[in-house]
Amino acid sequence: VRQDFVVRTVATLDELGKVYAFAAPILGLPVGKHTLEYYTQQFAIAPQLLVFAERDGLICGCILASIEDDHVLVGPVAVAADSRRAGMGSAMMREVEHRAKETGRTTLILGGREEAESFYLSCGFQPNLFIQLPEPDSTERLRSLNQQYEVVWESQQGGWSRLMLRTPQVDKDLQQQYQRRFPGCSTQYVFVKHIC
Ligand SMILES: CC(C)(COP(=O)(O)OP(=O)(O)OC[C@H]1O[C@@H](n2cnc3c(N)ncnc32)[C@H](O)[C@@H]1OP(=O)(O)O)[C@@H](O)C(=O)NCCC(=O)NCCS
Repeated sequence: VRQDFVVRTVATLDELGKVYAFAAPILGLPVGKHTLEYYTQQFAIAPQLLVFAERDGLICGCILASIEDDHVLVGPVAVAADSRRAGMGSAMMREVEHRAKETGRTTLILGGREEAESFYLSCGFQPNLFIQLPEPDSTERLRSLNQQYEVVWESQQGGWSRLMLRTPQVDKDLQQQYQRRFPGCSTQYVFVKHIC
């Protein structure tokens, strides 16, 4: 394994702009809240959570994380196509975990992309199936489809019913069952890691 890269944290807004511009075409940014404006705000709050890797002065990977409520939200994770499977993603994730501890947070959360699931699992994240239905008072119905997994969180608010199930592995079958049984329902895998 070539470990000829260094992992650093973003030191200036100019550097943040370059790191964001590196990740944008790989991930199709901006997506959701993950705009350059959002990370510019985060730079003032917790700059140590904005991590990148470089080789010969060129940016070749990044993980942009931020403080959200009581946890650290791991946002864009990207490694240049010609630098993958050399431990760069894992090295950056270890740095994010180390830096997250400095902020006093002990939980990392990320909304997974299907193609990166094995990467999150190899970093020690636990998969959780997040189910959202745009109907009020339906968590009981949502629960009824699941016989096997622990319900770690649920909520009925603002016309939505939401459920989070802890699954030891990514369970695509159950995900599809929810989609079929509850039209309008959206499901996503959320990955969680507790650090101590
Ligand atoms: C996902 C990504 C960040 C991984 O970065 P990386 O530097 O290649 O990851 P690492 O080399 O540290 O991989 C660590 C382990 O994760 C797993 N893993 C990583 N990529 C994998 C892949 N494509 N398929 C299967 N397992 C994979 C492996 O277990 C790997 O260990 P191994 O190489 O010893 O088998 C990188 O592939 C990427 O940028 N993908 C495109 C963007 C993306 O999907 N980002 C995540 C969404 S926010």
